[in-house]
Amino acid sequence: MKTLFAEALLVTATALSASAAPLAFDKSAGTPGELALPRGGTVRYTAYEGLRYAENVEDETCQTMNLYVPDGAGPDAPVFLRTYVGGYMAAKAAAPQAGDATGRALAEGFVVAIPGSRGRNSVRDGAWTGRAPNGLLDLKAAVRYLRRFARDIPADAERIVTDGTSAGGAMSALLGATGNAPEYAPLLERMGAANERDDVFAAVCFCPITDLEHADMAYEWLYGGTASRRGATDGIRAVSAELAAAFPAYVESLGLGLDAEGCLDAVKREIIRSAQIAKDAGADIPQDIGFAFSEEAVGGAPPIDGGKRGGGGGDGGAMPAFVPEKRPGEYITDLDMAAYLDYVVSTQPLKTAPAFDTLGVAGQSASGENDEFGDATGTSANFTAYSAAKNGGAVTPEVAANVHLLNPMDFIGADGSDVAPHWYIRHGARDRDTAFTVPFLLARKLERAGKDVDFLLPWNRPHSGDYALDELFSWLKEKIAR
Ligand code: DHB
Repeated sequence: MKTLFAEALLVTATALSASAAPLAFDKSAGTPGELALPRGGTVRYTAYEGLRYAENVEDETCQTMNLYVPDGAGPDAPVFLRTYVGGYMAAKAAAPQAGDATGRALAEGFVVAIPGSRGRNSVRDGAWTGRAPNGLLDLKAAVRYLRRFARDIPADAERIVTDGTSAGGAMSALLGATGNAPEYAPLLERMGAANERDDVFAAVCFCPITDLEHADMAYEWLYGGTASRRGATDGIRAVSAELAAAFPAYVESLGLGLDAEGCLDAVKREIIRSAQIAKDAGADIPQDIGFAFSEEAVGGAPPIDGGKRGGGGGDGGAMPAFVPEKRPGEYITDLDMAAYLDYVVSTQPLKTAPAFDTLGVAGQSASGENDEFGDATGTSANFTAYSAAKNGGAVTPEVAANVHLLNPMDFIGADGSDVAPHWYIRHGARDRDTAFTVPFLLARKLERAGKDVDFLLPWNRPHSGDYALDELFSWLKEKIAR
């Protein structure tokens, strides 16, 4: 027994000492590189790769950051921090891509930071090392590292913009919402993160898969009435109805000045706004997916004599009345949400119910989110009261603590966190990976907390990110210029 214990201690000590090193940044260690841009031209940069952003690194494959400093960058260069986290999995530090926001950011004079981070699939020596909140801790440590070395890099650490898509969009939202929040401080200290602030200037969030403990109820409340769910098994329909019934109380608990119906109406107006923008740009908005249009009169014979001789007119009614043909006009006037939601799920099948916290967590069918809230031994965990109860248990205090640490909603307007002043939130108008209400309520809560929020459900976009980069970067440049 004693020997085994001693051996265990030795293994731990070896692992830790092998991976512990003070934080450093050597400005002279950069290597030159260049990136050809999609619209022509080249951006030249100095690359610093494999930077360790924490003193105690558990996983050398992903707890490092790559930094790219474009030629001409000075101490006022803003920083574009892109996380490639997807599916709550580990992500590696990476090089900028010409076709996504990282290449564009370099071209616009941003220092580009691409930190890797542990995720739900990270394993080392038989232990799962990247489950909640560790991936987020890694990214927060990367922000602190940038602040520690901003003068040397050179970069303006007061202008850090985070960007990510899906689970990465959730991470970006968390970086934006949890700046300097005391809950993370001891955890960051334990991993040897720089003792610096970790608030950021702006968060760019594409289709954030977030507010996980309320995402199931939101999903069923929104999609429970679709043809897809009507055709589901009795068991799934019962689960769907129970989850949906819990959503209105959640919306009201947020105190955002709207109830669930108001939320649906606001989402409807957002989709109309999005379709109108696309229509104005020349897109054909189909009529059979729920939209109503103002009518525009066209065609038919023009009235003769100004219509004076039309039927019922003054001279005996020799000519028939002019009845103009109608076609969709300039404006989208309404949307039948039931029809629209059926359309959305016809483009990609619905997730089952519950969409995130699976009822079969003890078996083979744990979701990615169940893994994310699992522990170091590799078990998966329920993270909502609903699914935990269905599985005959309750959310454990450890899981509940991690659920809190992974929900940006908890930190907006809360004491102790410095929430980013600027937010750019996008979720495609046919993205069904989470309910529209999730990004909408995030945006609404931020607005209510006095933050500057640019929110859109971009027309015809599926679950994706880093698009419409002209628009994103003109928004960013306007914010940074202030
Ligand atoms: C992602 C997508 C999902 O549908 C989900 O539940 C979690 C993560 C993603 O693409 O990152």
